[in-house]
Amino acid sequence: MKHAVTRSLMAAAITLGSGSTLALEQGDWIVRVGAAHVNPDASSDSVAGSTLDVGNDTQLGITLGYMYTDNIGIGLLAATPFKHDIELVGTGTVAETKHLPPTLTLQYHFAPRSNVRPFVGAGLNYTNFFSEEGKGALAGSSIKLDDSWGLAAEAGVDIDINDRWFVSGQVWYLDIDTKADISGVANNVNVDIDPWVVMIGIGTTF
Ligand code: NI
Repeated sequence: MKHAVTRSLMAAAITLGSGSTLALEQGDWIVRVGAAHVNPDASSDSVAGSTLDVGNDTQLGITLGYMYTDNIGIGLLAATPFKHDIELVGTGTVAETKHLPPTLTLQYHFAPRSNVRPFVGAGLNYTNFFSEEGKGALAGSSIKLDDSWGLAAEAGVDIDINDRWFVSGQVWYLDIDTKADISGVANNVNVDIDPWVVMIGIGTTF
């Protein structure tokens, strides 16, 4: 069953990829829109004898790219605000927060003239947390998460549907480390969120 699914996905990718080519070159802008899923690989300092974990979320993602040369591009990841539950392991959800993690990367495009265009990138992430709120055992407590600057790595591939549109898959690893202040409980709690972000969507160039 698994192999059948893999085979049909590969066949679909080859069918998509065999259409006419949407070649990239210096000066092109690229826009991609899709579902962006943030999956934290969280860890934290000890809080009340346990640690904090951070849940997943999916939002509308948008990436904007600019080809600085035929192979070197600049990429920006933006999205509608992500909302995450914060869990005290063993206790349950004790808070939630929203955040925006704009990420700027310098990219290398391996095959800008192909109809299957892989690329990799590295750069910087800035994450702004807002609307933090205590829940459950911490309902009514004030919680503050510091903004974070960190390194980002990405990989992606665009596969042409026709000479105007392509399907796109992108993945980022973001180093997001924050400090949490939970009034009356703990201050300066180091929380490493360090999520994988996966975005599947469609795109075009102009
Ligand atoms: Ni980290």
